[in-house]
Amino acid sequence: MSTPLSEAVDPGGEATDVMFSVRNMWKIFGRDSDKIIGTELERADRDRIREETGCTVAVRDVSFDVRPGEVFVVMGLSGSGKSTLIRCLTRLIEPTAGRVLLDGEDIGEATPQRLRELRRHKMAMVFQHFGLLPNRKIIDNVAYGLEVRGTPRPERYERAREMIEMVGLGGYEDSRPGELSGGMQQRVGLARALAVDPQVLLFDEPFSALDPLIRRDMQNEVTRLQRELDKTSVFITHDLQEALKLGDRIAIMRDGELVQVGTPEEVVGRPANAYVADFTSDVARTTVLTARWLVRDPYPGERTDGPVTEPGTVLAEVLPMLAASTAPVRVVEGETLLGYVGRDDVLRAIAEDQLEDPEEAAAIEEEAVEEMSGGAAGQSGSSPTGSGG
Ligand SMILES: Nc1ncnc2c1ncn2[C@@H]1O[C@H](COP(=O)(O)OP(=O)(O)OP(=O)(O)O)[C@@H](O)[C@H]1O
Ligand SMILES: [Mg+2]
Repeated sequence: MSTPLSEAVDPGGEATDVMFSVRNMWKIFGRDSDKIIGTELERADRDRIREETGCTVAVRDVSFDVRPGEVFVVMGLSGSGKSTLIRCLTRLIEPTAGRVLLDGEDIGEATPQRLRELRRHKMAMVFQHFGLLPNRKIIDNVAYGLEVRGTPRPERYERAREMIEMVGLGGYEDSRPGELSGGMQQRVGLARALAVDPQVLLFDEPFSALDPLIRRDMQNEVTRLQRELDKTSVFITHDLQEALKLGDRIAIMRDGELVQVGTPEEVVGRPANAYVADFTSDVARTTVLTARWLVRDPYPGERTDGPVTEPGTVLAEVLPMLAASTAPVRVVEGETLLGYVGRDDVLRAIAEDQLEDPEEAAAIEEEAVEEMSGGAAGQSGSSPTGSGG
């Protein structure tokens, strides 16, 4: 399907259908930071560079594309460079090297005036600590971006009211931020970002200060708005569950580098290295991997009259179908039969989840298949691996 690192990147050069196109972007903090790139030191690890130059490599030679309409999640441990990366996209932080195209426009070439324009009209940011103006009413906080733009008051109030309604805060227009809970304040942050009708939303760990239930509410809210409003989002988090829930694709950062860019299924089902595998090890594969991931051609002599399911069905829901049928499920998209998923395919996927040692996993799987099919599992136990989607 895809090679882990280059999946998002068109090696031929400029991709066309992209919102953000980032190429070889670096950010190094410190004096003479621009003297490191191009020297032997550029490949050295962060600690050595810090020791020898006093500079911190925050983002290292990063390339990726964000497609229009997608939620592109960036995740990684604290200090891995996520905030620096997202701020470099709009030059809130000036990259040390590399190129960023926004909708085909070279951000590096933009004049200060043009940058201001882009930040006011084309994109909006939602921060972890809300960033609301404490002395202003909710409606004026939400209308702020429009006020800065010079939109007349009746118009900007109308729009602000709509947005307040949309994030479920109708009735709080005249309250002050301090009178609202954290979750409500973050809804205000969201409404404020949406009020300017930006094409691009940039989220920097917006929900990490919220408690888990409210956080889940907000995640659902973002999913709903994303569906309804057709925005492009870059969303930073260090919470894998959040990344899997929201992301169309996930980029995993480590020490300033992107170690993998892929769909949730790719990141969980085919981690690029031990670091990513470790990151995703707590995830139940059955809730992320779908029938599409395991679909394969029928084996010779295999039954082809099993129950029908859609390719997007997660394995947790495929399992009961397989338990009730001895034939593999048929994976059908619209009118098209994509292929089959059998018991052994699902067992293999689950076994890989629970065991680090692949040989042990294979042995257990064989045993289980045999047991399930009443000892007649000779063929399916030795059958080739599903070719995957
Ligand atoms: N203004 C700055 N000056 C010097 N170093 C900085 C600056 N901002 C960030 N750094 C360093 O760059 C690295 C990446 O920081 P960044 O804030 O981008 O990480 P992060 O992934 O967002 O972390 P967190 O999850 O804690 O927010 C860190 O080592 C940090 O110390
Ligand atoms: Mg950060």
